[in-house]
Amino acid sequence: MSAVPARAVALVTGSSRGIGLAVAEALAKEGFAIAVNGPADDSELAAAVARIANHGVPVVAAPFDVGAIGGHKAALDAVEEKLGPLTTLVNNAGVGVLKRGDMLEVSEESWDRCISINAKALFFLSQAFARRLLARERPSLFHSIVNVTSSNAVAVAEQRSEYCASKAAAAMVSKVLAVRLGRENIAVYDVQPGLIATEMTAPVIEAYRDRAAQGLTLFPRVGEPGEVGTLIASLATGRLPYTTGLSIPADAGMLVPRF
Ligand SMILES: NC(=O)c1ccc[n+]([C@@H]2O[C@H](COP(=O)([O-])OP(=O)(O)OC[C@H]3O[C@@H](n4cnc5c(N)ncnc54)[C@H](OP(=O)(O)O)[C@@H]3O)[C@@H](O)[C@H]2O)c1
Repeated sequence: MSAVPARAVALVTGSSRGIGLAVAEALAKEGFAIAVNGPADDSELAAAVARIANHGVPVVAAPFDVGAIGGHKAALDAVEEKLGPLTTLVNNAGVGVLKRGDMLEVSEESWDRCISINAKALFFLSQAFARRLLARERPSLFHSIVNVTSSNAVAVAEQRSEYCASKAAAAMVSKVLAVRLGRENIAVYDVQPGLIATEMTAPVIEAYRDRAAQGLTLFPRVGEPGEVGTLIASLATGRLPYTTGLSIPADAGMLVPRF
């Protein structure tokens, strides 16, 4: 009997739409089995699962709120029961601020929400993922964690201070993970999108388009989710060999220093 070759298996958080769905789709095109996640077992999640299934790879719905830390282990167990051992975690789920405005007016509720979903959940889901990888023999597949942070991990958006703080924390978590997991041959990357057209940015996307056209970004346009998906698929398939701990701007050069 010939051995069945092991398959890469990815959990992409917040993949019911937007950047996460595009990442899931790009990984499916690479042959990954995919666990699609959103906080609720709703029609949006079901539609995302159907879309990934079109690529002919194993796919499951993994509905759970990443902010519910106590549920992480059971969620990972459920995915592995259906798809086999995970090789890849893409921490993409994220939330914006409850209300844009002066930092002097930021509510504790919005601060806690940003930190809880964008930073704390990413830390503990990575911890749960890493613990299980370290507890077992790993086949010679590429193993990685890719965190989706933001240009706001480094650049201030004055109207969204609590979001900036949460993304800066997530970027540091990425470095901490890279240091801890390097000796285990698990790569960790921090992808920092700039202006990407999704539901999250829909209220401001026309203003972003204008600012991009006027030179805010070096390519004079906003980005599409599929572009971030392709970038992350390159990382998760190990196409940047002998790298880890990188922060990679996906921002059309927006933060290149200029004067
Ligand atoms: N778009 C941009 O320009 C941009 C720029 C920089 C960084 N980012 C980051 O990129 C990531 C994706 O953003 P996006 O623009 O694609 O946003 P989006 O369209 O709002 O999608 C966010 C996804 O995350 C899910 N999600 C939210 N809270 C969750 C939770 N507690 N548990 C599980 N899933 C949850 C959402 O599900 P529900 O809809 O069911 O809540 C949705 O699937 C975020 O981390 C965001 O901060 C985006």
